Amino acid sequence: MKKIIVAIDGFSSSGKSTMARALASTLGYRYIDSGAMYRAVTLYALEHNMIDGDGNVNADKLTEALPAITVDFAVQPDGTQHTLLNGRDVEKEIRNMDVSSHVSDVSAIVPVRKKLVQLQQDMGKEKGIVMDGRDIGTTVFPDAELKIYVNASAETRAERRYNELRAKGQDVSLEEVLENVRHRDYIDTTRAESPLRRADDAIDIDNSDMTLEQQNDWLAGQVRKVISKL
Ligand code: DC
Repeated sequence: MKKIIVAIDGFSSSGKSTMARALASTLGYRYIDSGAMYRAVTLYALEHNMIDGDGNVNADKLTEALPAITVDFAVQPDGTQHTLLNGRDVEKEIRNMDVSSHVSDVSAIVPVRKKLVQLQQDMGKEKGIVMDGRDIGTTVFPDAELKIYVNASAETRAERRYNELRAKGQDVSLEEVLENVRHRDYIDTTRAESPLRRADDAIDIDNSDMTLEQQNDWLAGQVRKVISKL
């Protein structure tokens, strides 16, 4: 069967990663969480003191360091993927609040985006890939055969994120998470380079009131439609 590229974009914690991962597993495709790549670069910047106490990122220093940064994924025995920063497994660290608080600022830096977009495009050369993010349907794969734009209210998304973080034992309040979600929405949609934007040919889904099963069925239906027309 002919392989396609599926681009899934949407706000943070919209559930797009869960949808994308499930779809990739059903199709036997590779799943790439592009947000994890921006998170890994943010962790690098934090670890190398490139972000000051007020949250200002030293863009020049980070840009200079980019050639020394590698971001990759390693498939685990259970089929999940872990993010590697210069070969080190950082899957857990990149999900903490410290990284979440700075990742939108780091991902607004143009040379950071250029580097990661190039890496993402290389990963899609053979097709058979499901990638989620903010600019996948608009910038990374403008010719993707299927583009999905996921939406859900900020409150629903904050609640999901809060439950995830609490389940991981992190001590955060719902207010703090909602504030972080809103802050990231603002930066993600207003930055100059590749802001979060629905591609004109994307198909919308609002999953605020959908179960995971309903989402997965809906998505599988969209894929079937596209593949049947190839
Ligand atoms: O999907 P996520 O919440 O893990 O993404 C983390 C951050 O990375 C998010 O605030 C915006 C940024 N990002 C981006 O700018 N472009 C992408 N393709 C993916 C994520």
